[in-house]
Amino acid sequence: MAVYDTLGATYARTRRPDPRIAARISAAIGDAADVLNVGAGTGSYEPPQTVLAVEPSRVMIGQRPPGSAPAVQAVAEHLPLRDDATDAVMALLTVHHWADLAAGIGELRRVARRRVVVLTWDQHVFRERFWLVRDYLPEAAAFDDSRAVPTDRLIDLLGGGRQEAVHVPHDCVDGFGAAYWRRPHAYLDPHVRAGISMLAQTGDAALAPGLTRLADDVRTGRWHTRYAELLTLASLDVGYRLIVADQ
Ligand SMILES: C[S@@+](CC[C@H](N)C(=O)[O-])C[C@H]1O[C@@H](n2cnc3c(N)ncnc32)[C@H](O)[C@@H]1O
Repeated sequence: MAVYDTLGATYARTRRPDPRIAARISAAIGDAADVLNVGAGTGSYEPPQTVLAVEPSRVMIGQRPPGSAPAVQAVAEHLPLRDDATDAVMALLTVHHWADLAAGIGELRRVARRRVVVLTWDQHVFRERFWLVRDYLPEAAAFDDSRAVPTDRLIDLLGGGRQEAVHVPHDCVDGFGAAYWRRPHAYLDPHVRAGISMLAQTGDAALAPGLTRLADDVRTGRWHTRYAELLTLASLDVGYRLIVADQ
C-alpha cells in the first residue's frame, strides 16, 4: 500500500492549486507540446497539455477531478514509458517521498525529450525563515531533515539546471507546509495538519507541546506581537524552489 493511501485521504480538501504558483509552473514548462506529471497526486498544477499522470496511490488517483489527464498507478523509479516520451516531465512536491531519488531522477531524464521541472524546497532556508518549525515545532524540522533533498544534489542528478525561488503568497490556496505563514491559527486545525506530510508524519503526540504553545500565543496576541513584521508582507521566501533542467 502506498503511503499516500493513508496520508492523502483528505488531500483534495486542503491542497488545491494556487493560481500564482500555477503561473510560475506553467512558465517553467514553457511551450512543451506534451507533459508527463510524476508524483501527480490529485492533479494540482497540471497544464492543459498534460498527457499522463504517474501516481502510486489509488486514494490520490481517486481524488483527481473529472476530465483530468489519465493516470497510471506507478512510481517514479520505474516509469512505464518509452525513452523521450514527452517534451516535458514535471515532479511537484514529491521527490522527498521517493524510495530511490537517483533512480527516479534518472527516469525523469530518460522520458523527457526537452525539459524536467521539479518543485521542492531548500531545507536550510526553510529551517531559518519559517517560524513554525524554527520556534515551535523543531520535531517537524528534524523529520524534514531526514528526507529533504538538497537542491544542489537534485541539480547534479539532473545534469545541471537553474533554480528559481517561489515565494509563498500570504493567502496561498494550496495548504502545503509553509502556506499559512501569515495565518498561524491554521496550524491548530487537524484538517490542515492532515494535508501537510511534514506534520502528519511527525505525528500529533510529538507536536503537542509546540502546538499548545502556539495556541496560547495566538490566543494571547503574543504571536502577532512577536512576528508583527510578517503581517506587513504579501509574500515570503521560505525556501520553495523550482528547478528547471533542459535535457
Ligand atoms: C505532496 S504530494 C504532491 C502531489 C502533487 N504533485 C501536488 O503538487 O499536489 C506527493 C505525492 O508523491 C507521491 N509519491 C510518493 N512516492 C512516490 C514515488 N516513489 N514515485 C512517484 N510518486 C510518489 C505520493 O503518493 C503523493 O501523491
